[in-house]
Amino acid sequence: MNILDITPALKAEVQKVAEVAGYLWQNGWAERNGGNITVNITHLINDSVRALPAISQVMPIGTVLPHLKGCYFFCKGTGKRMRDLARRPMENGSIIRILDDCASYVIVADNPVMPTSELPSHLSVHNHLIGKGSPYTATVHTHPIELVAMSHNRAMLEKDVLTRLLWSMIPETKAFCPLGLGIIPYTLPGSIELADATLAQLDEYDVVLWEKHGVFAQGLDVMDAFDQIDVLSKSAKIYVASRSMGFEPEGMTDEQMAEMSRAFNLPK
Ligand code: 13P
Ligand code: ZN
Repeated sequence: MNILDITPALKAEVQKVAEVAGYLWQNGWAERNGGNITVNITHLINDSVRALPAISQVMPIGTVLPHLKGCYFFCKGTGKRMRDLARRPMENGSIIRILDDCASYVIVADNPVMPTSELPSHLSVHNHLIGKGSPYTATVHTHPIELVAMSHNRAMLEKDVLTRLLWSMIPETKAFCPLGLGIIPYTLPGSIELADATLAQLDEYDVVLWEKHGVFAQGLDVMDAFDQIDVLSKSAKIYVASRSMGFEPEGMTDEQMAEMSRAFNLPK
């Protein structure tokens, strides 16, 4: 029997992942196997899942993550396509259990699909979130066209230059992505260095831009993480549309943005 059929709460969570995977593909952000999603599902695990035997070898994470002992995650499979995850999540992703050494994991359901190559970044962030008692459960990495294009411009990679630009394109961006966009200088995909850099920035921002690669977001659930990327991407599209109409967009003024912060009680 499919694991999701015996755990309805887990089924609902995995269906949300599938829905978001479809949005990533439809947005043109998920060429081939581009992007990955992981969700901490530990709170949804019942005794029948806990009793599942390993269906893989013990795999190293590559780092030690003390808060993840015994935790469960749904992970997109490495090399798997978002458009396939959208239709068949349990064939294109798997559920893993972190072992007691906090440095390795096994796959427990449904198929021995190896988790995403960006697992070090995802799990490092989950470890940090649990450690600080955060309610966030989901992390999403994807390749949004305009935001990645902007990361090829040196001036836009200066601290908070893009945050300010994107906030100023449309008022809602500041309201719904109130911490802005952190910047990570180019780092090898899938590396522990990328995981460490991402972790450091996510204390200050909910979404970070991996230079010349993509974005990484954290959120209450997978929809929340997606929404933040989506509002930033919308602003980036407005900027690009203005430039392709031949003008530099004016952007909201500092006073208009300060007014937004007061009205919406925003932290910055
Ligand atoms: P995976 O297929 O291993 O998830 O990798 C996709 C990706 O975007 C790497 O950065
Ligand atoms: Zn990527």
